[in-house]
Parts: sequence; structure tokens; C-alpha cells
Amino acid sequence: MTAKLIDGKAFAAHLRARIGTEVAAMKAQGITPGLAVVLVGEDPASQVYVRSKGRMTREVGMNSLEHRLPADTPQADLLALIDRLNADPAVNGILVQLPLPRHMDEAAVINAIDPAKDVDGFHILNVGRLATGQKAMVPCTPLGCLMLLRAHLGDLSGKNALVIGRSNIVGKPMAQLLLRDSATVTVAHSRTANLPALCRQADIVVAAVGRARFVQGDWIKPGAVVIDVGINRTDDGLVGDVDFDSAAPVAGAITPVPGGVGPMTIACLLANTLTATARANG
Ligand code: GUN
Repeated sequence: MTAKLIDGKAFAAHLRARIGTEVAAMKAQGITPGLAVVLVGEDPASQVYVRSKGRMTREVGMNSLEHRLPADTPQADLLALIDRLNADPAVNGILVQLPLPRHMDEAAVINAIDPAKDVDGFHILNVGRLATGQKAMVPCTPLGCLMLLRAHLGDLSGKNALVIGRSNIVGKPMAQLLLRDSATVTVAHSRTANLPALCRQADIVVAAVGRARFVQGDWIKPGAVVIDVGINRTDDGLVGDVDFDSAAPVAGAITPVPGGVGPMTIACLLANTLTATARANG
């Protein structure tokens, strides 16, 4: 058996096209969604992400507002900018690119964002809402993974899901989303005992550990759906957290890297910005 490829690139393109149609309808009513992206410092990977976020925001017809601040910006200045963006009715979504420079308190910065404009879903209020089943802004990468899983499996109810990684950005919200869809969820991390055996019981594997080719093919239950969140730069180019060559012959479906989860993240950011705009105007 060879896994079906989950084409996140095509799925994301369809999603962006649908968003573009909805943005056009909003514009006809005089409302243009606006997404503000704040980048502090010159981290090269962050610069690439911010540039492609800006381009795709404009492509769907939204306004893209970019704020670039030097790495030594005092935290008070960043908080003052966030206050202005919170108060600006032309701004519907605010994203502060992470990681922040080390002199900044990440939690304080994130929690300064108006939760209604928190399109990353990182504000403590949105985290709490998601965890308690209330209407929340949902973090973009796990939301993209969930869309791909639903598209390939339909109902996730009763499936054994293993999330490898416990970050606030991916692992923890992914677990919450799978739980919300009635999967049986296990969260594994660097201290987990006998990960291969745990993995062999999983109908769904979401790998978000940040270690190149970490998950091996002989860990995969035949027919399982494998979602690879990893983006690791190696001498062979970009590779995921899953050893694709050994996993693909065993899995039922698998996301490639690149072209799997990556494109879904920005599409979901635009979806969240649309949702925030609709809520602000309705
Ligand atoms: N850095 C890496 N991933 C993300 C993300 O999803 N949002 C933000 N704001 N920063 C990130």
C-alpha cells in the first residue's frame, strides 16, 4: 500500500479562492478586512513568512498593514503600537510574529492584543475558550491540520490520535481541536516513554516536534493518516518531522513537506481575519 498524498497546497488555494469571494462581497458593502502584521527584528525565517503573509493577504483582496520594528525596540513601544492597532477600526486582525527578541515578555505582548483581533488564537482568553468549548479564535496551523484531517477522514469521532509535540502554537491547540471532534487524544513529547509503540496504535499522527525525519515508517500503523507539521532546513533542503520515504509506503494518507501543512497556515490566518471582520461588523 502506498499513501495517498494530502495536497495541502491545492486545498489552501481553494480555501483562499473562497475567502477572496467573501472579501469581494464585503467590499461591495464598503468593508475591507485589514490584517496588521508586526515584525520585530530581522530573523530571516520570520522575514520570509511575513513577506508571504503580506502577499497572500493582498491576493484575497484584504488590506495588509506591515509594521517592522528594530530588534532593540523597547517593549513599551511595541505595546503602544498594539494599543493603536487595537483601537483602529480598519484593523480587523493583529499578528505579532514570533519569536520576539529575548528582552520581551512574549505572554505580555500576546495578551495585549484585543482577543477579538487575535487571529493567531494565542491570547489567553482564546486559549481558554478553545479549551472549554466556547467560540474562540483558533491557532492557524492546527486549524489547517484539522481541515486536512476532516477532508480525508470525515468524522474523527473515536479515532486514536497521537500529537507529537506540546507547543502552545501547535501541539496543545491541536490536541484541543481533536478532542473537540471526539477523537481519543494522546500528546507525546521529549519525555514520552516508548513513543514508537504508542505511535503504532494511532489512526492519526500529527508530528510537530521540530526534528528532521524523526518519525519512522515502522512506527506507523498501516493505513494511518499522517500530518507532518515540521519544516526543517537540512543539506537535502526542506524536510518534515516524518521520514517520508519510510512512512509513505505504510500510511493511508500523508502530507508532503513542502506543500502539505505549510500553505494551510496562511490560508487559515486569512480565514480567521475574515471571521474577525465579520464578527466586528455583524
Ligand atoms: N512563528 C511561527 N509560527 C507562528 C505563528 O503561527 N504565528 C506567529 N505570530 N508567529 C509564528
